[in-house]
Amino acid sequence: MNTIDLVNYGADKLRQRKIRTYKLDAEILLSKVLKKTREQILVEFDQKIDKIQVSHYNNLIFRRLSHEPIAYLVKEKEFWSKKFIIDSNTLIPRPETELMVEKLVKINKNKSLMILDIGTGSGCILLSLLSEIKNSKGVGIDISKKAINIAKKNAERHKILRRAKFLKKSFDNYFQQKFDLIVANLPYIPSYNIKNLDEDVRKYEPKLALDGGKDGLDLIRKVIYKAKEILKIKGLLGLEIGNGQYKKVSKLLTENKFRIEHKLFDYKDNIRCLVSRFNN
Ligand SMILES: C[S@@+](CC[C@H](N)C(=O)[O-])C[C@H]1O[C@@H](n2cnc3c(N)ncnc32)[C@H](O)[C@@H]1O
Repeated sequence: MNTIDLVNYGADKLRQRKIRTYKLDAEILLSKVLKKTREQILVEFDQKIDKIQVSHYNNLIFRRLSHEPIAYLVKEKEFWSKKFIIDSNTLIPRPETELMVEKLVKINKNKSLMILDIGTGSGCILLSLLSEIKNSKGVGIDISKKAINIAKKNAERHKILRRAKFLKKSFDNYFQQKFDLIVANLPYIPSYNIKNLDEDVRKYEPKLALDGGKDGLDLIRKVIYKAKEILKIKGLLGLEIGNGQYKKVSKLLTENKFRIEHKLFDYKDNIRCLVSRFNN
């Protein structure tokens, strides 16, 4: 079989299973197996593929047929124009999270900050911020030891080891220091809604990264209280929130002496990130 036969074969199987991105997925999976870019495999379309590679490709197509996300199959995801290593212990970084990175980079570009990233997962937020705000340092924490190991690998991959520290720790534990900026993309899906998520998310992404308790705000509520304790004077808090949570979260922030300075809208015009200043 050659490249084009394999792409068509895989795409056909995925299409029959109603996977909307069937052609793209088949191309991505084959490029992963052949260790080439998608463009390369499409140009070298009559390249012969050996048996071991065909069997590896079939295995990936088979896993995709069960809705395993492409990012987990290829073990990486692009975020803020960088490739982050991920696996089933880390959430797949999302484009709406980039909105928060974009705003925080813009308002802090030349500052020298101490940053805390709560629920760091793959480390994508902290490492992206540090790659742009060069005079800054940061700590990423997560209760998942396996996620922390992945974040450390990403720090190594992006050569930000000296300015980033990753610790297995819950945010409700004690902190020895205070921070200029706290960012948190914590789980915010209400428990009752987990069953309604797309199969790709529900079956494969870590529950620890999704379930935000009864109304989805269990952790966001707690992180706002904690931030008051560990933010420096006039420190900033960047929060990602779920669709429809703005009203409740903005009330919580105001009640706790935070002033919302930026509301960030996703591509469907929903408020998804809030940047607030603590008026202590
Ligand atoms: C929605 S994911 C976000 C991952 C990453 N920051 C991103 O934006 O892609 C939330 C993360 O919070 C972590 N987490 C959950 N409860 C936590 C807690 N109490 N303290 C620290 N991290 C927590 C989960 O393990 C998960 O990795």
